[in-house]
Amino acid sequence: MYINIMKIKLFDPVINEEEISVVKNVLKSHFWASGSGIGKVDKFEKNFLRFVNSKSCIAVNSGTAALDLALRLFNIKNKYVILPSLSFVSTAHAVIYNNAKPIFVDINEETLCIDPAEVEEKITEKTDLVLPVHFGGMTCDLDKLSKQSKKFNFSIIEDAAHAVGSSIKGKMIGSHGNAVCFSFHPVKNLAMPSGGAICLNGHNWQKETPILQSLRWCGISDRKDHTYDVKRLGWNYYMNEISAAIGLVQLKKLKKLNKIRQKIAKRYNDEIKISSKMLFNNECSYHLYWIRVKNRKQFIKDMKKKGIETGIHYKPIHKMTFYKNKINLPITEKIGNEIVTIPIHPNLNESEIDFIIKSINQITTK
Ligand SMILES: Cc1ncc(COP(=O)(O)O)c(C=O)c1O
Repeated sequence: MYINIMKIKLFDPVINEEEISVVKNVLKSHFWASGSGIGKVDKFEKNFLRFVNSKSCIAVNSGTAALDLALRLFNIKNKYVILPSLSFVSTAHAVIYNNAKPIFVDINEETLCIDPAEVEEKITEKTDLVLPVHFGGMTCDLDKLSKQSKKFNFSIIEDAAHAVGSSIKGKMIGSHGNAVCFSFHPVKNLAMPSGGAICLNGHNWQKETPILQSLRWCGISDRKDHTYDVKRLGWNYYMNEISAAIGLVQLKKLKKLNKIRQKIAKRYNDEIKISSKMLFNNECSYHLYWIRVKNRKQFIKDMKKKGIETGIHYKPIHKMTFYKNKINLPITEKIGNEIVTIPIHPNLNESEIDFIIKSINQITTK
């Protein structure tokens, strides 16, 4: 018989009685969802917009949907989109959904975010968009990317799935790029059963907001009483009331929970005796914490024996069968072979954090 001895989980949403109570209330209300984005979804959008300080916010049912719809604003059919390969596949899928071509570029070895020098090398007249990922919550060099975007005339859509609550010099992620996409998947810092959002900041945000609202609900627009029009194709990507209700509670405690993640990251950075590991930055959301190990398979096995779950984020996208291509991304490939993610969620207690640090140091120095 298989016995699961794993005790310390890699990811674990932080919930208490308040989330349970709001879910019960939504269930009892019999109002569970509406594509028109009224009710708790509307409230969540308003509160999230205030939190990240963006011009507009459109809630959807996943980070993948957020990326897909954000890209649709830019009409990129047959165009090129530059992105990192070290990410969840959704980042690249969104480009394919939009009939454009993903151009993978290498990353910075310290932040694991897209390297602007590599971006510049791959820009051609077909490049319409750059899609950086704030890896683990560590922010990309948006300053440089933004200067490049003006010089080479491309737009920036940020994949901020890991970066809810991250900031750059006090300015929240969500308030920079033309469109910034968040995920509220249960493993994320702001957890829902499923959810996502697009935050807009470009010159056209007032025009783009109703377009995205319509795209997330089957193309429906101009609703009046029982009638509406459909002027474009749309999808069923809207957020439901249960997710929004949980999200409203999670949002209230997000700052506090991210501070706890930062405290753990500081300890990992100071006490784990591996030289190649995630840096400490007091503006990072620390959705995940990564270290690099040479004999990864054995390391993961040894950690499992100690009851500590680990992960691999990620196998590079250009190594997946669907995306397989012969491009050479030396840093991405080296990191793709060595990266291991370790638990950093706020449910960890001090003795578990001590045990994780001690175990990693023991395993990697034996
Ligand atoms: C970097 C990145 N982008 C996009 C996504 C997609 O988000 P979702 O799972 O909510 O569709 C994820 C989620 O895992 C992610 O980590």
